[in-house]
Amino acid sequence: MTNKVKDILSKEYFSRSDIISLLSVDDDAERNLIFQKAAEVREKHIGNNIYLRGLIEYTNICSKNCLYCGIRAGNKKVNRYCLNEEEVLTCAKYAYDQNYGSVVIQSGERRGQQFIESIDKLIKEIKKLSNGELGITLSCGEQSEETYQRWFESGAHRYLLRIESSNEELYYRIHPKDENHDFNKRLLALKHLKSAGYQVGSGVMVGLPFQSDENLADDLLFLQKIDVDMVGMGPYIEHPETPLFDLRNKIPDPKARFEKTLLMIAIIRIMMKNINIAASTAMDTLDNEGRIKAILAGANVLMPNITPIKYRENYQIYKDKPVLTEADELVGKLEASPLLKDYHIVYNAWGDSPHFGKRNS
Ligand code: 5AD
Ligand code: SF4
Repeated sequence: MTNKVKDILSKEYFSRSDIISLLSVDDDAERNLIFQKAAEVREKHIGNNIYLRGLIEYTNICSKNCLYCGIRAGNKKVNRYCLNEEEVLTCAKYAYDQNYGSVVIQSGERRGQQFIESIDKLIKEIKKLSNGELGITLSCGEQSEETYQRWFESGAHRYLLRIESSNEELYYRIHPKDENHDFNKRLLALKHLKSAGYQVGSGVMVGLPFQSDENLADDLLFLQKIDVDMVGMGPYIEHPETPLFDLRNKIPDPKARFEKTLLMIAIIRIMMKNINIAASTAMDTLDNEGRIKAILAGANVLMPNITPIKYRENYQIYKDKPVLTEADELVGKLEASPLLKDYHIVYNAWGDSPHFGKRNS
């Protein structure tokens, strides 16, 4: 098999069956070949930098009912909150003072003029308080083309919208099949984000019930086809107050989900050399050094949570989500980690996706 892995890794482009073969590798030495290749590609194309975004979980109010998510509208056990403007700006100021370079505003998917205007105002105020220096990424779900344009014009320039699964059938196994969770609308939203001018990020959850290596290979080919600038992928982690929890015996064990996610990160790094890839928080739930390992597998973006601690337990999209890790503690741990001695955390930089610059030049 080693020769087969080596042969695949030497190719310019991976076919679907190449990707499936790589995803099925379970021998440690062979997995390391894949990680090594990803590290080489990363160093050659974008260098060993790590960029920071302070993550602000703005509101856990959500109009959707994704079957896997702990803050779905149907979970009545969640205490709903929405930060006020001052709280958000205090977080943004913290990110600015810590020289993080960027913030991410993440929220449940909310509709209505008031929400649209609040986000718009926050974008403008964050720009103001940082003299235009803080970069702003949004992760606020599906919105109209007009809303995306408005927020872009106000100063947001990156947007994350995971496709969750690019296989329509699987998509409807993890979402209610109704017009509020329409696969085609999600695809359209990704198109609108691109035409509005954003750097666009997408990704999937790894280790879902009914998900095969074939599905995962198609997910990677999908991300390549829509030519994303950024990728965020994490392991699926069951949440007891969700419908999908009933299928918890039908998913790979935590270690397998974790390892598969690492492979997904490494393979997409090799396939899309100069994109930004986030080391997702969910990695740390399944492994103490989850995010560090994600970086070693090819990720180059870290999003320390800067939401005020008292709200964090209410943003439990999956069980055992870390709520107590302070942002500066996490960054300090990475700075001190001997595993990351060859990597540099870059401060005071937006850390845009080099891929975006290239596709627009
Ligand atoms: N496990 C892992 N990731 C989840 N997300 C939502 N629920 C879960 C879960 N149970 C992810 C989705 C969403 C992102 C914000 O969080 O991929 O896009
Ligand atoms: Fe809402 Fe996002 Fe959770 Fe779906 S995944 S229920 S859209 S917060």
